Amino acid sequence: MSYKALFDLSGQVAVVTGSSKGIGRVIAEALAEAGAKVVVSSRREESCAPVAEAINVAGGEAVAIPCHMSKGEQIDTLVDGAMSKWGRIDVLVCNAAVNPHFGPMATVTEEAYDKVLNTNVKHNLWLCNRVIPQMAERRDGAVIIVSSIAALKGNDMLGIYGISKAADAQLARNLAVEWGRSNIRANCIAPGLVRTDFARALWEDPERLAKATATYPLGRIGEPEDIAGAALLLASPAGRFITGQTLVVDGGVTISG
Ligand SMILES: NC(=O)c1ccc[n+]([C@@H]2O[C@H](COP(=O)([O-])OP(=O)(O)OC[C@H]3O[C@@H](n4cnc5c(N)ncnc54)[C@H](OP(=O)(O)O)[C@@H]3O)[C@@H](O)[C@H]2O)c1
Repeated sequence: MSYKALFDLSGQVAVVTGSSKGIGRVIAEALAEAGAKVVVSSRREESCAPVAEAINVAGGEAVAIPCHMSKGEQIDTLVDGAMSKWGRIDVLVCNAAVNPHFGPMATVTEEAYDKVLNTNVKHNLWLCNRVIPQMAERRDGAVIIVSSIAALKGNDMLGIYGISKAADAQLARNLAVEWGRSNIRANCIAPGLVRTDFARALWEDPERLAKATATYPLGRIGEPEDIAGAALLLASPAGRFITGQTLVVDGGVTISG
């Protein structure tokens, strides 16, 4: 297979949750540039529509379909919208996530705990359950869940979020097992600290950023663009024998002392 064919998504349809900005946006743009028709989704029409428009202006094909991933009933709107627009979904990127609790697990409210697990785990499964069967009918499909390195280590402030991201890694492994015979691949990406609004509290303060940067062997935190290549690999024919894995994309922070 030629290098270009390895990363060619022509004729495919990709749905990316939480893609109006940050990591999701660059993933949507990369998949579009590789030839996929892309559904840009986030809670608000007014934030995802301009991203779809920018992809169309750049010569790609995209549509905006809002879906609040904390509200399970909106999953049907997203899937039905994508299916009625393009009739298929080949690549599903579960990228949207929430973290309403920054602090020790001992202080989390039931409401915040439920919100994290419902949005980051349960609704990802509901979305996969809606999308994967039509992939299986064609015996081809890729599911990518954006996890986090918070899934791999204990953390005194991000424990509840880390539990949800560890569950996402297991979700990908189990989808890989349950759907592998239908040639569905399911994987996670676990980013390190990436300069987005989501993680602003961890990088905005220069002192905090300097401390964080010092722990990264590559000498810097991540930019959203650093995550796009991993997503393209896992979505495309180049990744066709990779399944059930969590690909850590973190500048080396988890392997350094
Ligand atoms: N940044 C990091 O350091 C980092 C590290 C590891 C993992 N991650 C993971 O990376 C993923 C993307 O985060 P990011 O850093 O790119 O965040 P971001 O820049 O804040 O973008 C979040 C995106 O998700 C949308 N969104 C937020 N809540 C949503 C919901 N309930 N339902 C649907 N869409 C929602 C936002 O748009 P609207 O506001 O329009 O809804 C936006 O498009 C998340 O899964 C996060 O856990 C991030």
